Amino acid sequence: MNDISILAKNLTKKFGNYTAVDNVNLNIKEGEIYGFLGPNGAGKTTSIRMLTGTLTPTEGEISILGLSMSKSELDIKRAIGVVPDEPKIYEGLRGREFLDFVIGVYRLEKNDVLPRIEELTSAFDVDYLEDYIGDYSHGMSQKLMLISVLMRQPKVLFLDEPTVGLDARASRILKELLNKYAEEGCTVFLTTHVLEIAEKMCHRIGIIDDGRLIAEGSLEELRHLSHEGHTSLEDLFLELTGNEDVGDVVEALQ
Ligand SMILES: Nc1ncnc2c1ncn2[C@@H]1O[C@H](COP(=O)(O)OP(=O)(O)OP(=O)(O)O)[C@@H](O)[C@H]1O
Ligand SMILES: [Mg+2]
Repeated sequence: MNDISILAKNLTKKFGNYTAVDNVNLNIKEGEIYGFLGPNGAGKTTSIRMLTGTLTPTEGEISILGLSMSKSELDIKRAIGVVPDEPKIYEGLRGREFLDFVIGVYRLEKNDVLPRIEELTSAFDVDYLEDYIGDYSHGMSQKLMLISVLMRQPKVLFLDEPTVGLDARASRILKELLNKYAEEGCTVFLTTHVLEIAEKMCHRIGIIDDGRLIAEGSLEELRHLSHEGHTSLEDLFLELTGNEDVGDVVEALQ
């Protein structure tokens, strides 16, 4: 089945007179890994916050797993997993207490979840669940956040720059896990500035610039959009977002 997991129609967000997300349409299938790329301030995080129900769109409709965000926000939140760009985790709790808190909030069956926590902590080399989160480094908190989301086995995963702060090993493990989950039918929507991740992992890539989705497709399809014959995603990205003048900029700085 090729069910649509993430659907957005004319998604728009205005902050005052400023349009951060401008009429974006998304149609992402079950089991797809979709990479959402764009320069700083392009509207990626704002889009994710709307798609995950933490920010109300100014205009447009969202449907996740066939459920309408305006009617079934809670059901959607129960079914999805979100790894935000700046995870807010309670500094006064120990890692284990935070996981217990998530288990309680989502009313998960502890006996089902504990083996998954074991697997994930061992995969990510997390041996600090008994320590206070306030004493964690950024990467350590990020790994805890990932475990708290992945242990729930959500059907749709939204990850905003998930590899920031992760070391090479943890980053590789995460990539392998996301591939495995996608093969099992999980839909993955991720933003990243690491173009290599998008290039290697994503089935489709969407490029957002100034709030507008300016290009979308597989890497192969995006290559056809290049007027310059670019083949690497970095060159394509810079061409499509009108940032090809980096050489001139560096020269001007010397
Ligand atoms: N709450 C807000 N109030 C006003 N403007 C906002 C708000 N949130 C975001 N913006 C603006 O919306 C635009 C898009 O921001 P967003 O965080 O979505 O960008 P991004 O693509 O995630 O960038 P980055 O790659 O730096 O994470 C930016 O110009 C930002 O200043
Ligand atoms: Mg962002």
